[in-house]
Amino acid sequence: MSSIVTTPEWLQLADLARREFDEGPTLRERFAAEPARFADFSLECDGLLLDYSKQHVSREVMAALCALWRSVDIPGWIARMRVGEAINGSEGRAVLHLALREPQPRAEVARVLEHMRDFCAEIHGAHWRGATGEPIRDIVNIGIGGSDLGPKMATQALAAHRQAHLRLHFVSNLDAAHLATTMAQLNPGTTLFIIASKTFTTQETMSNARSARQWLVAALGEAAVARHFVAVSTNLAAVAEFGIDPRNSFEFWDWVGGRFSLWSAIGLPLALSIGHENFMRLLAGAHAMDRHFCTAPAERNLPAIMALLGIWNTNFLGADSLAILPYSQSLEHLPRYLQQLEMESNGKQVRRDGTPVSCDTAPVLWGEAGTNGQHAFYQLLHQGGRLIPCDFIACRQADFVLPGHHAALLANCFAQSEALMRGRTRDEALAEMRAAGLSAERSEQLAPFKTFPGDQPSTTLLLPRLEPYTLGQLLALYEHKVFVQGIIWGINSFDQWGVEYGKQLAARLLPLTAGRQAIDTASDLDSSTAGLIAWVLEP
Ligand code: F6P
Repeated sequence: MSSIVTTPEWLQLADLARREFDEGPTLRERFAAEPARFADFSLECDGLLLDYSKQHVSREVMAALCALWRSVDIPGWIARMRVGEAINGSEGRAVLHLALREPQPRAEVARVLEHMRDFCAEIHGAHWRGATGEPIRDIVNIGIGGSDLGPKMATQALAAHRQAHLRLHFVSNLDAAHLATTMAQLNPGTTLFIIASKTFTTQETMSNARSARQWLVAALGEAAVARHFVAVSTNLAAVAEFGIDPRNSFEFWDWVGGRFSLWSAIGLPLALSIGHENFMRLLAGAHAMDRHFCTAPAERNLPAIMALLGIWNTNFLGADSLAILPYSQSLEHLPRYLQQLEMESNGKQVRRDGTPVSCDTAPVLWGEAGTNGQHAFYQLLHQGGRLIPCDFIACRQADFVLPGHHAALLANCFAQSEALMRGRTRDEALAEMRAAGLSAERSEQLAPFKTFPGDQPSTTLLLPRLEPYTLGQLLALYEHKVFVQGIIWGINSFDQWGVEYGKQLAARLLPLTAGRQAIDTASDLDSSTAGLIAWVLEP
């Protein structure tokens, strides 16, 4: 593979970064000089608004970024993905999560969607009863990573749409505190467990599943398992071996990556929470974004623009992190969901052909719901001196309404992106303090502390309202952004070999931490690991 960093498109961007960023105007100066900046650098599509006018871009930069998109043939890669070519080369797999949200899905997808619909109807109609004859009240999803983060995030995001009589719980951590504290709130007779695991071998999930099964069997007997356990997996043989009735298994396929699996039966807890019709609206929103992504030119393509801005910030302006700041309590789990989506997909240094990447790849993604983040880490965004691009996400209308809250929430969101962009000059700080009655001497003393550099880039994404369709659009938008960036960096966004090594080492250490094997028999242990194990095993 030839290197992206030596292409004329890349070199032009490097030159532009010097002229437009290092030696160019500040964001504040750009806004002062360009009254139409918002109109020039924002885009509306199917109800969503993307404002990227507070990014360090000019028309020339955007044209050069779009030229980069064309140079790597994104439309060609989209076509290869959609026909089922094994673009996940290191695992030899196709990448077909888009097929899960087609309005007329292929037969196997349609079959599982029907199974999900029927199961939702049984639970919601209280036709499905537990072993004691009572209806199900609590649903516990046991899964981790892609088998947890998506349904958990989306269930909270769509809390305003939930079926009032069901409570959803998500258990992921291997630490018994997670399952034990959840089970302490539950009545076995009215609880249904969903064991969600693509492979059905993941240590965390299988340990939690076994413990949940023991808890249930201790209370209701072995025969109760059939009424209280269902599974979602690609590995139906392992599901059967675990003792779950095949009729209670919901299948998905190896062409669905874990972090792209919300749209499959992994979305079952979400469908149970919001109802099957709402789940279908989520798929429809994602499909609408797929259509837009697959057809719109780069200049008017929301995922393309977000991906290209990320490339600009990471590879040309030197940003090494990205803050996700949803001004929505319901999107509280979105940063964590996007962490897996972006960092597990694109946190790589080897290209598709096995050669090293010659530039930075995925930035560290982090974040928190606004306004909570304002009272935690925004100080560093404003005055910490690092370049940290931010994605602000907000909704025009609230999903939960209490008088006065939403206007104040939006005011905070817009004020933060404005403050990060403008900053405050020393003269402005002095003038404000004098106007507030401070002495000249005190104002001079405080001026350095009250001066803000600004120039911090951000994008603001506005949704009309948080509902199944718009959430589908939002999540598909980020999926496609990740896809585009992976192609530009030349990496396979769909494998995750880095996660596997830690799993292997943990399996090797388990006999030692469990005290079943003496430490000196594992002579290749480094002194730190051996010392830590010895310390925890001390009586
Ligand atoms: O974190 C690694 C990973 O393989 C993810 O890609 C996946 O989402 C998660 O583990 C859970 O895997 P499974 O669904 O097979 O239990």
